[in-house]
Amino acid sequence: MSAPAAAVGRAHPRLEGRAKVTGTARYAVEHPADGLAYGWAVQATVAKGRIVRVDTTAAEREPGVLAVLTHETAPRLNPVESPELLLLQQPRVRYRGEIVALVVAESLEAAREGARLVRLDYDTEPHSSVLTERHPSLYKPDHVNPAFPTDTCVGDFDAGYEAAEVRLDQTYRTPAYHNNPMEPHAATAYWADGRLLVHDSSQGTNDVRSTLGRLFELPAETIRVTAEHVGGGFGSKGTPRCTPVLAAMAARQVGRPVRLALTRQQLFGPVGYRTPVIQRIRLGADADGRLAAICHDAISQSSTIEEFAEQTAVLTRTLYAAPHRRTTHRLARLDVPTPSWMRAPGECPGSFALESAMDELAVACGVDPVELRLRNDTEIDPEEGVPFSSRNLAACLRDGARRFGWADRDPAPGVRRDGRWLVGTGVASAIYPARTPGASAEAAAGPDGTYQVRINATDIGTGARTALWQIAVDALGVPGDRVAISIGDSDLPPAYVAGGSAGTAGWGLSVDRACRSLRRQLDERYAGTAPPDGLSVRVDTTDEAAGLPRAPRYAFGAHFVEARVDVDSGEIRVPRMLGVFATGRVVNPSTARSQLIGGMTMGLSMALHEEGLLDQRFGDWVNRDLATYHVTACADVQRIEAYWVPDEDRGNPLGVKGLGEIGIVGSAAAVANAVHHATGLRLRTLPIQLDKLV
Ligand code: MOS
Repeated sequence: MSAPAAAVGRAHPRLEGRAKVTGTARYAVEHPADGLAYGWAVQATVAKGRIVRVDTTAAEREPGVLAVLTHETAPRLNPVESPELLLLQQPRVRYRGEIVALVVAESLEAAREGARLVRLDYDTEPHSSVLTERHPSLYKPDHVNPAFPTDTCVGDFDAGYEAAEVRLDQTYRTPAYHNNPMEPHAATAYWADGRLLVHDSSQGTNDVRSTLGRLFELPAETIRVTAEHVGGGFGSKGTPRCTPVLAAMAARQVGRPVRLALTRQQLFGPVGYRTPVIQRIRLGADADGRLAAICHDAISQSSTIEEFAEQTAVLTRTLYAAPHRRTTHRLARLDVPTPSWMRAPGECPGSFALESAMDELAVACGVDPVELRLRNDTEIDPEEGVPFSSRNLAACLRDGARRFGWADRDPAPGVRRDGRWLVGTGVASAIYPARTPGASAEAAAGPDGTYQVRINATDIGTGARTALWQIAVDALGVPGDRVAISIGDSDLPPAYVAGGSAGTAGWGLSVDRACRSLRRQLDERYAGTAPPDGLSVRVDTTDEAAGLPRAPRYAFGAHFVEARVDVDSGEIRVPRMLGVFATGRVVNPSTARSQLIGGMTMGLSMALHEEGLLDQRFGDWVNRDLATYHVTACADVQRIEAYWVPDEDRGNPLGVKGLGEIGIVGSAAAVANAVHHATGLRLRTLPIQLDKLV
């Protein structure tokens, strides 16, 4: 058999790329159906209160309207873990924008017009929607996501800090950020013969299926949820969302398939967002910048509906050495939608604070900021006291400094001019946990010499499908054109959600194991020839994953940014962003690079543009679309580059660490640090907008 045409480590275009760009790839609401009806969600117009009167007469009279679902008329649901999913079950309103009705109609236009005609009267109560350091509801959660201790303490921070030659005590603020995947949250649901089929826009359909099963009291085998193609998620589609639930309720009510897509405006709240965070960082160091004491206190928000405890300060437990250390998390319960995952939840906002503070310490000590980070590097996890599986942060910093041209940098802030532009450069470190969740996968050989690999992984645009196929091709040792892979369907062997940067490591391991096992059996039983009746092997890597070496495993990285600030207008341009990462083995350099620069771009967007502006009077964000909630555009950055260093790590048998999120970690701090170097202005509240620079 000829050598594989595609294999791990070689750039390969996305397998589904052609289907996507030619429009034949079907997303959640592009599946055809006979008798299709359309849903339109109605949102609460008060921040807190109770619906006291429902009037749907005008909506129901609207031509084409088939049904109006409210808490009075919607099908009853059984309790599930997430109370947010108990939609249209009771009259209370917990946040402005909560979905309180759903109109189902013959056409999208009729559904939208019907939604406009639904009349709801409320009894309102006073609400509290703005996070402050002293909010009366502040409390200490039992743990922070996903299962980290809320607070940690090593040594004696107070004593170490008091005794330090150089002390820094600063507070950093980041606003709410909204996930804006290109494809909104959307689903098409069909009931037939007591079975439910849902095409969902989801990062993991196993959880959607089991949740629907509990909500509707159905055995799992009667439900099928697919997500073959997903137009982004960033975490907001990582948990089951309102869309498949509402579509399924509506489809049952009207006895027809129902298609429901949220509008862009409806994504600002009901599907999660990154919590605003207030972070106090205290660093105590000697005159050479060696940390003696480090403390990170984070305050974030949750809703009154359910707890979401962002793990903001967790990265400070691991990134730098210091004998005395403390981290804490506190949560406020506000009358707002529940925050949720957004690319690198925790590490992303946490790194803005810590890596800004490290830059401030470098300035205070008169030490180059790259050198400062090298001086505080550690091969031993500073809180666990055991060696990392591999680290290579120093290699990222050194390689990045060389590629970027960091040597001979003049440390003085606010002194370089190029015409109208003040010019500066900044650096920041990055860290993100490397995880290997167990998964099931199936590999089959056909009598015709072809192979099928099946796993319910999800490709949300990352290239996951292609990376898994590359792993399969190598493990089978056959030409790539003989290998087909199926993902994105709950009928396939179950696998972990596309989240936590864990897909290639976790799914990849099970695909590798299934394919190697199949290869062995084919070699033993058929001497490597095609099996006349086919042969199929299924594996589950739960035990293998649980038994992997316990060493602390993280991916690392270093960001380098050049910023230019117009001396009069404060306008900011970023000519160069450059990141170097240590992420274990890279399966597909092409899609890996895309993930890394995507994360870096999102960090640039966070640094300069993104900001959920909440109006306390209404308890809601006033900027609820892409015209007013600004995201970064091509003009903001001229050159953006991502590289990786060799990073050997046996903590995962494939050597894969994952890289979906690390690109955003530290990225915003590197931009802020470059702006400081350019202007001498230290901005501790994001976003950095031009009015703050003049
Ligand atoms: Mo990602 S925020 O782990 O889906």
